[in-house]
Amino acid sequence: MNTKFVSACFLAIVLALPVRWANAYSGTSVSNKVNFTSDVIYQIITDRFVDGNAANNPGGSAFSPGCTQLKLYCGGDWQGVTNKINDGYLTGMGVTAIWVSVPVENITAVINYSGTNSTAYHGYWPRDMKRPNPAFGSMADFAAMITAAHNHNLKVVIDFVPNHSSPADPANIGFAQNGELYDNGVFVASYNNDASGRFHHNGGTDFSTIENGIYKNLFDLADLNHNSATIDAYLKSAIKLWLDTGIDGIRVDAVKHMPFGWQKAWMETIYSYKPVFTFGEWFLSKGEVDSRNHYFANESGMSLLDFRFAQRTREVFRDNEKSMVDLDAMIAGTAADYREVIDQVTFIDNHDMDRFTQAGSPQRRTEQALAFALGSRGIPAIYYGTEQYMTGNGDPNNRAKMASFSTATSAYTMIQALATLRKANPALALGTQQQRWLNNDVYIFERKFHGNVVVMAINKNLATPYSISGLLTSLPCNAGVAKSYTDVLTGGFAGNSITQNCNGTVNTFNLAAGAIAVWSFADTAASTTPKLGHVGPMMGIAGKEITLTGTHFGAVKGTVSFGATVVSGANITMWEDTLIKVKVPAVAAGKYAVKVTRGGIDSALYQNFEVLTGAQVTVRFVVNNATTVMGENVYLIGSAYELGAWGPVNAIGPMYNQVVYAYPTWYYDVSVPAGASLSYKFMKKNYGAGVMNWESGGNHTFTAPASGTMTVTVPVNGWDASIPVQ
Ligand code: NOJ
Ligand code: NOJ
Ligand code: CA
Ligand code: CA
Repeated sequence: MNTKFVSACFLAIVLALPVRWANAYSGTSVSNKVNFTSDVIYQIITDRFVDGNAANNPGGSAFSPGCTQLKLYCGGDWQGVTNKINDGYLTGMGVTAIWVSVPVENITAVINYSGTNSTAYHGYWPRDMKRPNPAFGSMADFAAMITAAHNHNLKVVIDFVPNHSSPADPANIGFAQNGELYDNGVFVASYNNDASGRFHHNGGTDFSTIENGIYKNLFDLADLNHNSATIDAYLKSAIKLWLDTGIDGIRVDAVKHMPFGWQKAWMETIYSYKPVFTFGEWFLSKGEVDSRNHYFANESGMSLLDFRFAQRTREVFRDNEKSMVDLDAMIAGTAADYREVIDQVTFIDNHDMDRFTQAGSPQRRTEQALAFALGSRGIPAIYYGTEQYMTGNGDPNNRAKMASFSTATSAYTMIQALATLRKANPALALGTQQQRWLNNDVYIFERKFHGNVVVMAINKNLATPYSISGLLTSLPCNAGVAKSYTDVLTGGFAGNSITQNCNGTVNTFNLAAGAIAVWSFADTAASTTPKLGHVGPMMGIAGKEITLTGTHFGAVKGTVSFGATVVSGANITMWEDTLIKVKVPAVAAGKYAVKVTRGGIDSALYQNFEVLTGAQVTVRFVVNNATTVMGENVYLIGSAYELGAWGPVNAIGPMYNQVVYAYPTWYYDVSVPAGASLSYKFMKKNYGAGVMNWESGGNHTFTAPASGTMTVTVPVNGWDASIPVQ
């Protein structure tokens, strides 16, 4: 065979193919709604951004002309956001997604809280989740915003509130709008007109336990009862209505305050209908580390806003009360605790915290924190105005009208440079994060995805430079000779170039006081080894499509494996060099390692993709007369994977026994396969004493509903003898 001819043909083919075939990573496009890892999100309080249409501004006492009264409406709307998309402010900053306020209709009441008139300008007081908030515009305005965003390669995330409607006072039906809830104009219930139990009536939470926070009102907000089939159907149909508008993501309010089982079933509904990246808000205070927060991020099907990241970043760069060593400990801790740490949403401030920038404090602190978020693992979300160094402590001072739209601030240009890098070098989107040089002031870390490397160096001491010696990185040298890497930020933040030697060492250099430096290597070498970097979503049912992202998948369709099950042919609906869409195979429910195989070569495994038994519904399990001694708790265990598949280590609980029912009755809301015949029992576990007991007698059985909700209540059958706890 004429090898010259073959290679000439090969060259012609290579040249004819789009550039990314030659494995350049172009990030995840706007059409990929389940992977945000290469995106930078910009959080907008819609009312505070731009008033694009004065005609929709609320009248009378609900409105503050000039936005001087920050608990009133200020006129911002979707037309205003659209204007800023079209004039290039957002895309010029490099952001690739916006998160807008809750778009649904809210109550119009003006509530006087201790002398201050307050409105629903923030969106967290929903009245009708199937209608738009008229102060933000019409459904057509919302659609126009989505279209403009997509035309500019911007994704749109909506905030959504499934936990509650609006403020209510059980003792005063005339307070506010009594929590009234409507379904596309049809009355559902209000707090004092609720014969069918659409709301919880358990008083306000004291935040003492998770159960207390779920089933009691968050502040005075009328708390929805997710065990009501009406509310369950309402929240599922409402989110479908918004998914139908073409949104790309959902931020879920107050996930700590809703039953976990209900949320998992709701996520299955979303992922089986129109999957979009979904992240919840589970507030953690400064220094708070909560294993239940990790469990939620790992098991609910939803990502979380990374409050551990935010709080520690603020302690280090804003408040100067923690060191870079503490910062690195947070990175190591979260990497261990969050299974998909690259899918958690990082930030440095938001509408529920003091703004990052403090009056009189150096701007470099804000810039360093932003750089750290933009360079670290996780999906960065930037709060509107942080790029303009807006200040303001406490609600509502942290939610002032957007101060300026300058495209010349240092923060704006830095966000642009690092957002661009995030698209161009998959190390930022998909890579691991490793500490490379550390003292109390200096943190040098490396992001690495196979041959792609980004190294970021920050010196938080604004007065003292450091000599950096002994630094090792994975940046390559150049064909056997030392290679110089220039700062991606072109010295704009006092960063320097480095000389990388072939043995991994970097020549000693001076890291200036307050410096931020970034060095990048995007690997463009050809390779026949597929590199799987992301699977989204991480939960699904047989037949539903999921999306795999990475590099070097090649142009020719290969296979995708879920454990030992190989998927090929028509069940792979798209195969591109950096993107694969594949249908979840009909395998037994459980967690599977996913891998891509190209020409007989396997990618590394992507662990823990969860296959559910089928479509999910929420069932409340209730057991009466289950008395226990101190240290014992009651758990649920049953036949389906979702009930732990009879494995005591997987038993669900501890169940609750304080609010909806009281001890010795225990209850728990669980996501189970719809329409399935299920067997179950209860268990007692006493981890302190190291023993557990199976419930004695035969199994309880029932058939889960095909849709809606159900409560199954049984008395306990008594307990078998104690055995070692598992
Ligand atoms: C968290 C939101 O971020 C906050 O602003 C809101 O007031 C509460 N949830 C209640 O919706
Ligand atoms: C699993 C189930 O079959 C259940 O019925 C039984 O009680 C336990 N194993 C303990 O033997
Ligand atoms: Ca307006
Ligand atoms: Ca609740």
